[in-house]
Amino acid sequence: MTARRPIIAIDGPAGAGKSTIAKRIAERLNYIYVDTGAMYRAVAWKSLQDNIPISEEEKITALAESMKIRFDRTNGQKIFADGTDITEAIRTPEVTQLSSPVSAISGVRRRLVEIQREMGAGGGVVMEGRDIGTVVFPDAEVKVFLTASPEERARRRLLELSEKGIQSSLEDLIAQMRERDQRDSSREDSPLRKADDAVAIDTDGTTIDQVVDAISALCRKRTCECHCTG
Ligand code: DC
Repeated sequence: MTARRPIIAIDGPAGAGKSTIAKRIAERLNYIYVDTGAMYRAVAWKSLQDNIPISEEEKITALAESMKIRFDRTNGQKIFADGTDITEAIRTPEVTQLSSPVSAISGVRRRLVEIQREMGAGGGVVMEGRDIGTVVFPDAEVKVFLTASPEERARRRLLELSEKGIQSSLEDLIAQMRERDQRDSSREDSPLRKADDAVAIDTDGTTIDQVVDAISALCRKRTCECHCTG
């Protein structure tokens, strides 16, 4: 029997370093990287395009069901919605804010979780989000919950935005981050929480390399255990 390659689930709040770290681990292991937040953002982007207010949950669900979301990894990490490259468009502050209430709509989650499970079915994937270790792949071989203080997370976001030429203030970003964390953690459907068997890593005061090394070591330990005992 050929063992399925492992699934590495990385969850945590915005700005904890998930994307940078998940991408690096995927490169190191030659695994597929899946940014599930980008998928919720894609639905938020489309609902703005189509002028659907957030109160119209059924319409937004229908939209999530009908739109075709595709990642293209041949030329960097790009995301397409119905053939349109929306990689940049989903990173605006407007889409960022709307993605949180959109992700609280159960119909949207149902559809996106279905696609995420298809993407990860063959294993050999690093998937990052809020509910990967709890809902999408509760049996993932490796589960990590990344955290960092709101101040540190907001500082990282400020830098990221200024690199894109988007002006913001640290105070505003801290406030927005707290609001988004609160909403993502308190929603009824699949709230942001650490899976009981996830390893928590605080990224305050650590380098990216240190975190990547710690997760790689965890992978070696866990996947060896899986293969040795399986
Ligand atoms: O990681 P991000 O900031 O790109 O995520 C955008 C929004 O989507 C965020 O408010 C939380 C939500 N999200 C979610 O509910 N479940 C996921 N698996 C990924 C993101």
